[in-house]
Amino acid sequence: MSDYILGIESSCDDTSAAVIKDGFLMSNVIASQQVHKDYGGVVPELASRAHEQNIVPVVSQALAKAGIKPTDLTAIAFTRGPGLLGSLLVGTSFAKALGVALNIPIIMVNHLQGHILADFIKQPDKENRHPSFPYLCLLVSGGNSQIVRVDNPLDYEILGQTIDDAVGEAFDKCSKMMGLGYPGGPIIDKLAKLGNPDRFQFAKPQIPGLDYSFSGVKTSLLYFVRDQLKEDPDFMEKNKEDICASFQKTLIDILLSKLIKAAKQTGIREITIGGGVSANSGLRNRIEEEGRNRGWNTYLPEFKFTTDNAAMIAIAGYFHYLHGERTPLDVAPVSRIADF
Ligand code: KG4
Repeated sequence: MSDYILGIESSCDDTSAAVIKDGFLMSNVIASQQVHKDYGGVVPELASRAHEQNIVPVVSQALAKAGIKPTDLTAIAFTRGPGLLGSLLVGTSFAKALGVALNIPIIMVNHLQGHILADFIKQPDKENRHPSFPYLCLLVSGGNSQIVRVDNPLDYEILGQTIDDAVGEAFDKCSKMMGLGYPGGPIIDKLAKLGNPDRFQFAKPQIPGLDYSFSGVKTSLLYFVRDQLKEDPDFMEKNKEDICASFQKTLIDILLSKLIKAAKQTGIREITIGGGVSANSGLRNRIEEEGRNRGWNTYLPEFKFTTDNAAMIAIAGYFHYLHGERTPLDVAPVSRIADF
């Protein structure tokens, strides 16, 4: 008999549900919330309300697309955290209620583990390459910047992480500061393709070990733009492509310097990336280039699996399910990774 796992993701501003059958993806529905655009960032209360509105139709669509009934489900995997507490509560409560109604187990998933395992989502009629263990995952999103060593699907260790801002935050905050819009990552990525990445230099942090810092480069850009605008009020408009290209290159240099160091220290050459910033075209090109030069096997997730999605929660949940893990109904969501 086949195992059908329903995945539910609601950690930030995307409500998503997915169905996998014996590890193969049958459906992955994502409702992105547009309401935050006017505010230049995610407004937690509005996110929770939008999840409430979206969760039933999104789950219904995921089941319909997979061609199954709720009673066909074997288990429900849901994101327990980290993320926005109100948003997580919607997905967690829904998973519990549906689990009780169907009398099937629920399985909690760490959102970051979902990103780390995104390469294991198998799709019918696709090549479905995935790294072998152990591998390193550069996990880069709006809330995290980490290098994670993955020894098996359920066993991973954070080797380094940001001590201040996440790299996605640096993209988003700097885009806002330059008046380019939200979310900043895709906007800067698009403009960077048209600019000269070597024209401007921004400060790079000197942090020991494998940890990251992105607050200094953000401040460096802020002062640079402020000083240039004093000289020429049109400086931003005239140079935004070069500024974005140079800024993006600086962020990628910072990310790669520690990833290369981690690969050298561990001797691991299986390299993956995950999280929203892994959609960045400059980062993807650079990882592939470094991979060719350094003899790494690199794995880049499909774009639809870079940002928040329930397919990655379902596949992570499936690994937990196969390992015999079940989550008690008194589970509560957690907002921080340290509480996991
Ligand atoms: O993983 P994600 O969807 O949400 C969490 O933070 O959990 O990541 C969102 C982040 C945002 O900071 C967004 O600006 C960034 O991913 N992002 C990108 C690109 N697409 C999304 N950053 C750089 N280049 C992109 N193409």
